[in-house]
Amino acid sequence: MGDKRSFYEQRTIEWDDKSNSIMMIDQTVLPNEFRIVRCSNVSEVIDAIKTMKIRGAPAIGVAGAMGLALSVIASTSSTKKKLLQEIEPDAIAIKSARPTAINLAWGVDKTAEFIQSELPEMNSNESKEKIVKFVKSLADADVNTNRKLSDQGAKLFRNGETVLTHCNAGSLATVGYGTALGVLRSVAKQGKTLKVFAAEARPVLQGARLTAYELANDGFDVTLISDTAIGASMQKGLIDRVVVGADRITKDGHVFNKVGTYQIATLAKRHRVPFYVAAPLSTFDFDADWKKVKIEERSPEEIKTIGGQHTAPESVKAFNPAFDVTPPELVTAIICEKGILARPFAPKIKRLKRKALKGLSGPVA
Ligand code: MRU
Repeated sequence: MGDKRSFYEQRTIEWDDKSNSIMMIDQTVLPNEFRIVRCSNVSEVIDAIKTMKIRGAPAIGVAGAMGLALSVIASTSSTKKKLLQEIEPDAIAIKSARPTAINLAWGVDKTAEFIQSELPEMNSNESKEKIVKFVKSLADADVNTNRKLSDQGAKLFRNGETVLTHCNAGSLATVGYGTALGVLRSVAKQGKTLKVFAAEARPVLQGARLTAYELANDGFDVTLISDTAIGASMQKGLIDRVVVGADRITKDGHVFNKVGTYQIATLAKRHRVPFYVAAPLSTFDFDADWKKVKIEERSPEEIKTIGGQHTAPESVKAFNPAFDVTPPELVTAIICEKGILARPFAPKIKRLKRKALKGLSGPVA
């Protein structure tokens, strides 16, 4: 971390052993500046998530886990019981920093479960060492999972195709390698040539600022388009496939992802363009009803300004949902580390849940 290396290898978030703090690439200043920010306490982690210095579902999942580890390190409680009581408000505050991506709650809950089951009854230096080791292992696992799902998903792509992606589901949205962009990395690694169209993803411009930057940095042939040019690009036959990431996939295959994804999936169906979603198991919500999932609404200012300059009357109302939901009938396949899921998704997701609960490995598709 700390330099602009290839995003095949770069990590977005890392634990710093020397100072027991978290280092992250500040995604609010890219692509103009490559800056590392450091979080030394829970409030700084929550602020980094809310202000999107770190963003993307798997990346905030690991940030949440590491945030809770900071809370454990700061604790002076003498027993595990007291420690668990002490860190609970921090766990709740971290989880509510952004409501839609389930990975955030997943990261915090996994860490809390680890504390409950693996830490010694008396809180000690050993507890602190163990928790740090655990959150670092979650970060490593994220990279390995992304490589695995990406290598499988890459088989769906043919030589010479043009692929549209939305927002940033890249290395920057994960600890490393990426999900949707990980798949594209693996397509390239398999020796197939490809062109990528990146939609800019107004209002925060993750497509323009992050995806275009990340892919151009790694030598991809990437073309930026405005969100409003997606239909025209498909109508002209410029897009062969779509691949996006996800913030939450419910038990029946509803996909929550960056606002605009639903429009893309609808257009893809009309133009018979395969529409893929690439996401790890930590993005699956095996229990919730999709209608009850909270979609984050962000500040109207994100829509009413560009680069700090007002582009709309200051008094006008603005509606700014950060995510939307794509129904399963518009999704051709879901790519995860257990395989490629085709429709109908519900029975396969049910099998995934069983395997996830039992800790089993092997394909489900
Ligand atoms: O608001 P963001 O930038 O956190 O939204 C990110 C997305 O919607 C990504 O597509 C999603 O988290 C998948 S990241 C692998």
